[in-house]
Amino acid sequence: MRITITVNGVDHSVDVRGPESLLHVLREEMALPGSKNACEQGECGSCSVVLDGDVVCSCLVMAVDANGSTVRTVEGYADHDVLHPVQTALLDGGGVQCGFCTPGFVVAAAELFDVNPTPTSDEIREALAGNVCRCTGYGAILRGLEELAARNAGGGA
Ligand code: FES
Ligand code: FES
Repeated sequence: MRITITVNGVDHSVDVRGPESLLHVLREEMALPGSKNACEQGECGSCSVVLDGDVVCSCLVMAVDANGSTVRTVEGYADHDVLHPVQTALLDGGGVQCGFCTPGFVVAAAELFDVNPTPTSDEIREALAGNVCRCTGYGAILRGLEELAARNAGGGA
């Protein structure tokens, strides 16, 4: 079956022959390897993308079911060399170590901050509840994003 998905504003048409996931198609057929495959069971959030407005685990979405949809992947957040504010916050806060979880955190956090630039700590934690990090212990990730929220509120870091 030939499917067409608009990814980061670009239409991609690919042939899907079996039960491939959206994650597989993004990485292997569309040359968009930013979304990571860690658990492939919907447990870690490293494959998070925005599908028609909702953050989803792309490993759990059948590619054929995404036919005709609009997807935003982690590659769709930086504007050329200008990072999204949450990307800068994670970098500046030391919230990136091996980086394997980072794409999922960026997608989840950016979707929160784009709607609510001044989330509370609880709102940040809730938005990131589906994302697992094996390196940082979460403290640096949360601090970086809390500091971004404080800056957005005009309270400095
Ligand atoms: S790879 Fe999709 S949730 Fe872990
Ligand atoms: S930085 Fe390594 S898993 Fe999160």
